Amino acid sequence: MIEPLVEVFRERYGAEPTHASRAPGRVNLIGEHTDYNGLPVLPMALQREARIVLVPRDDGRVRLANTNAEFEEAEFEIGVRIEPGPTGHWGNYVKAPAQELARRFAIFRGFDGVFSSDVPVASGLSSSSALVNAVGLALAAINEVGLEALELGDLMADAERYTGTRGGGMDQAISMAARAGHAARIDFHPLRLRHVPVPPDWRFVVADTGIRAEKSGPAQAAYNRRRAECEEAFRHVSAELIRLGRLSKPPKGYQAMLRSVADDEALEAGERVLEAGLLKRFRHVVTENARVVEAQDLLFQADHTGFGMLMDASHGSLRTDYNVSSAELDELVAFAKEGGASGARLTGAGFGGCIVALSSTGTVDDILEAMVAGYYEPRKLSDRIDQRLFLAVPSEGATYRPL
Ligand code: GLA
Repeated sequence: MIEPLVEVFRERYGAEPTHASRAPGRVNLIGEHTDYNGLPVLPMALQREARIVLVPRDDGRVRLANTNAEFEEAEFEIGVRIEPGPTGHWGNYVKAPAQELARRFAIFRGFDGVFSSDVPVASGLSSSSALVNAVGLALAAINEVGLEALELGDLMADAERYTGTRGGGMDQAISMAARAGHAARIDFHPLRLRHVPVPPDWRFVVADTGIRAEKSGPAQAAYNRRRAECEEAFRHVSAELIRLGRLSKPPKGYQAMLRSVADDEALEAGERVLEAGLLKRFRHVVTENARVVEAQDLLFQADHTGFGMLMDASHGSLRTDYNVSSAELDELVAFAKEGGASGARLTGAGFGGCIVALSSTGTVDDILEAMVAGYYEPRKLSDRIDQRLFLAVPSEGATYRPL
């Protein structure tokens, strides 16, 4: 499906593109708001992706046109300090990987390219990381930066902080390194990825509320606040565990803490020293971590019912303890369950965006119908429904190839 892109390239530059770079969006199956706390996640890459066709340049200029006419072309010089555009400008996601690569490696060559994406924007499906990765992979290849996929994913997570969100590393890692037909358990510090096959008769339905959760808008402040709250909770609980003689020195992070003491012990310490709001955040992080570990086993064992129950529990915790759900997300989850989903939860950062629901081949049509009749039709959102409601196909990570 890159022919339309090639067409735009010819019109724009009067030449044939020589290379294509692509990077998928992702849906996170479980493990929400754990990555930036150094705890594992279990996402898979989607068939929806960011695509670029390009010709490498001999100088350090990057010119990237967007097939969506709303977005003006991004154009800049590669360097260690690239002036960002206004907050939320799509060009910042093009500059981010260029600046980060320039800081770490001597990269001097840019490209002329055309970009398009079918990852829904601001929906919790990592449209921004798909763009960052597609650009980052292209620049790394053009400049012969010899990094493995996962190393590049790690670098792209640092790169994306240029845009102002202190994200974790999940999105960039899965989009770079996913394997078709698989989800992946990802661990952090150091970044590690383990592919887990998705049983062929499992279906993950992705459904968009239609409420945009702009990562660069108000959701950014809420996201960054959650992150700061987790750090604060961690400091108080660590101090309490030291006071109790359960730890001898401050642990490096949540992972180290939860390796040294049982979850219950950490939660009890939290109950003693955290005020109600922070305790809720802390409880989500601790329980979500345990759910991810269990979910990985259940996926291996193809335990559909058990996996679905963990998804439900994850949503409950995100709603009541982490306070990142919304009326629309809760409603879509409820319709998915009414339609027969084994489990359903918000996916991504929350505050709007998408849910993901688990079904088997036999029940998927009932679930889709329940969501269309209950959510989309009453809101007159059923036009171009395939943009809002689709089955996730576990897809391959980013690739760069000659045309
Ligand atoms: C966003 C971030 C991720 C992760 C999720 C929440 O997608 O980019 O790193 O923190 O939110 O799980």
